[in-house]
Amino acid sequence: MPQDLMRFSVAMPEELLMRFDELVARRGLAKNRSEVVRDLVREALVEDECATPGRIVMGTLTIVYDHHAADLQDKLHSIQHDFFENIVSTLHVHLDAHSCLEVIVLKGETGLVQGVANKILGTKGVKTGRLVLTTTGEHI
Ligand code: NI
Repeated sequence: MPQDLMRFSVAMPEELLMRFDELVARRGLAKNRSEVVRDLVREALVEDECATPGRIVMGTLTIVYDHHAADLQDKLHSIQHDFFENIVSTLHVHLDAHSCLEVIVLKGETGLVQGVANKILGTKGVKTGRLVLTTTGEHI
């Protein structure tokens, strides 16, 4: 059920407002200033929630590695079995003759999810990687 919208006014430097309006324009015709402000506030609240210990979060960890690196696939596989309760799904893409991309979807307490991601990112042979955390936003 949608809640009533409350109005408030915001003061900001002209230059910042001009840049904000450019951002609003880039987000397309379906978005206006109010909608973009709401999006940014929700984004900040989700980010804050993901940084709060004890919260249940979802994470997507994207990594790129060379599958010829010694024992790397076995190690990555083994970590994922160790944390099978927190790893929801894994997507594997063969990028070329050597490189693999994996998107690993994690769920759990934020510190645990970050710990599992760091263990994977810290495995020798993982070339690049990035964890993105989010929540359902139900506390927001
Ligand atoms: Ni592959």
